[in-house]
Amino acid sequence: MGPGSILQARSSAFDPAGPVSEAIARLTEWMTWVFGAVFIVVMVLIIFAVFAKHNPEKKKTLNENWFIIAGGLIFPSVVLFVLLVYALVLTARISFGEEKLLIQMTGHMWWWDVHYPSHNVSVANEIYVPVGKPVRIELRSRDVIHSLWVPSLAGKVDLVPGMTNSYYFEASQPGVFRGQCAEYCGLQHARMGLYVVALSEEDFATWIKERQHSAPLDSPEKKSGFVAFKNKGCATCHTIRGTEAIGQAGPDLTHMGSRLSLGAGLLPNTFGNLAGWISNPQALKPGNKMPRTYLDARDLHLISHYLMSLK
Ligand code: CUA
Repeated sequence: MGPGSILQARSSAFDPAGPVSEAIARLTEWMTWVFGAVFIVVMVLIIFAVFAKHNPEKKKTLNENWFIIAGGLIFPSVVLFVLLVYALVLTARISFGEEKLLIQMTGHMWWWDVHYPSHNVSVANEIYVPVGKPVRIELRSRDVIHSLWVPSLAGKVDLVPGMTNSYYFEASQPGVFRGQCAEYCGLQHARMGLYVVALSEEDFATWIKERQHSAPLDSPEKKSGFVAFKNKGCATCHTIRGTEAIGQAGPDLTHMGSRLSLGAGLLPNTFGNLAGWISNPQALKPGNKMPRTYLDARDLHLISHYLMSLK
């Protein structure tokens, strides 16, 4: 799964890849057909009313009272009631699902902290899940209201400060799916994306096992990279497990080199993009919480190499 895979990520409510999004797509289809039919009937009646010749001889062509009661009261009540029941039953069914895997997610301005509590793994801006397993994500927010939306997998649920909400979904096929913050949350709301990667069960087991490893400084390159990382203040905000970097303000970078994107879906994670991002994150995503770093070429090279080596 390389950074190029995000360019083909699926992201459409009309392209469902799981039972929850499938159910939502069916409801959307039904609503479109029913309301489309009602719209056509109303338009035909309007055209009829506009062009019908007025004939004073013929007092009543139609029983108006009956027409108003049936067409204006009974018909819309029945249509809306049936769709309301359908939507309520569906909402209840997809809002309280099964849970085979629990993920905890915290929204920040403007990135997603993703934690697997039973494996003690933390990543950012990407969610890996096994295909065919119902997932529940506990949603929290550190600052303002965000909203998680992965159109191909499920609907939207808000991340509200002081509250814990749940997001249920299941991916029924492997693939990469793009998600997006769907609640205006400030300057970089539009650049608060994420990716859901659905893997086969074996691949997911391998993935989570690799994420459990910490990142020891076991080579001279890593050591000098880490020294630059620390001296430039990066460790104040970022954690790299296995080192003395234990900052909490920004994403956990323990496996930065295997991340798909940079800046929450802003750029594919390649060496060049990473170096550009580190050297001036404010130019690429103005207003984000990562300050300008003013690195010289040597430090920039050391830090970029070090971070890309953290697979
Ligand atoms: Cu977070 Cu919009």
